[in-house]
Amino acid sequence: MFTPTHLGTPLTDTAIRVLLLGSGELGKEVTIGFQRLGVEVHAADRYENAPAHQVAHRSYVLDMTDAAAVHQLVAQVKPHFVVPEIEALATDALADIEASGEITVIPTARATQLTMNREGIRRLAAEELGLPASNYEFASTEAEFAEKVARIGFPCVVKPVMSSSGKGQSVVRSPADISAAWQYAMSGGRVSSGRVIIESFVEFDYEITLLTVRSIDPATGKDATWFCEPIGHRQVDGDYVESWQPMAMTAAALENARSVAARITGALGGRGVFGVELFIAGDDVYFSEVSPRPHDTGLVTLASQRFSEFELHARAVLGLPIDTTLVSPGASAVIYGASSGPVRYAGVSQALAIPEADIRLFGKPTAGAKRRMGVAVATAETTEEARSRATQAAAAITVE
Ligand SMILES: Nc1ncnc2c1ncn2[C@@H]1O[C@H](COP(=O)(O)OP(=O)(O)O)[C@@H](O)[C@H]1O
Ligand SMILES: [Mg+2]
Repeated sequence: MFTPTHLGTPLTDTAIRVLLLGSGELGKEVTIGFQRLGVEVHAADRYENAPAHQVAHRSYVLDMTDAAAVHQLVAQVKPHFVVPEIEALATDALADIEASGEITVIPTARATQLTMNREGIRRLAAEELGLPASNYEFASTEAEFAEKVARIGFPCVVKPVMSSSGKGQSVVRSPADISAAWQYAMSGGRVSSGRVIIESFVEFDYEITLLTVRSIDPATGKDATWFCEPIGHRQVDGDYVESWQPMAMTAAALENARSVAARITGALGGRGVFGVELFIAGDDVYFSEVSPRPHDTGLVTLASQRFSEFELHARAVLGLPIDTTLVSPGASAVIYGASSGPVRYAGVSQALAIPEADIRLFGKPTAGAKRRMGVAVATAETTEEARSRATQAAAAITVE
């Protein structure tokens, strides 16, 4: 792992270079975080003019699941750090790149391999580390699926092992749902691996993202772990619509949550921000999944923390000091597109007239029904008030 002793100036011989793989709205904020530290950012995505492309020093369009294309880009850019922003990457190529010894993959190539497939991360968390999680089984054929669903029982949650944002995911409540759930999962996976996870349905009181940061502690010179205040969120069809920070938790639940987060991020290793998703029932904590990168529900930190999760990621990549201070209760609410086509945002003035509200419009070249086009964030004396402000601000904006 490379730890720079100096920072340089972009586009000169002294530059510290980052190659961002994935250039969505989260990558855009990460890019801005690096830009502010004078780091040279090269941003890649599968389409032109993606959000982070617009703020990076250089941009590239390629199929990032194509190992040869990733190798070629790395050879061209010669980055010090490869910073993945999405799951769907040629992670075996990242492992080769890391193994060459010259380039640091954030947080580690193995973390990107394990988390791109629900099977890898679930087996690590539940079987190797013994972390509490829902019961689960895997299936690769419809017959095996029916058998495993019966073993887990109803209700259960079905997800393609390679998918995100709720794609292909459904709840099976009775035997009548089995066939449709299988068909839906087969159509919704990112790569048609034909494999699904079946999880017992966790009757949680609430769910959180615990942003966990691994960087170097300036007091000891050694790797250390920091936690942000817990983020509560609401998911609709497996996609986040609203988040807030801090989520009120009992001291015991918070301690359990931090312990689970420390163990899973410690096992993945490396440096950076991790989004640890946890289900909370009373004082009990169930591991759900982890992103080895900033998390969408963490957009709230743009308003609520002294340093957003994106700025913290940039610092952590570079091994710099971390400050997870919450400055105010805050909330975020997603602004969705209504239909596909050109992008015009109406109602911006009304949204920004709401006290302590702010917005990020992502600059995506085209809209789409249910496509995330922006986010409203707000602060207030309480999370309830912040939620109300963020939700109102998001509702004021329509994408035409
Ligand atoms: N086993 C489960 N029990 C109850 N709810 C679940 C379960 N698994 C997922 N969910 C709900 O679905 C959401 C999305 O699931 P998740 O595994 O995080 O998929 P994704 O990778 O698409 O984000 C979760 O945030 C939670 O609200
Ligand atoms: Mg999730």
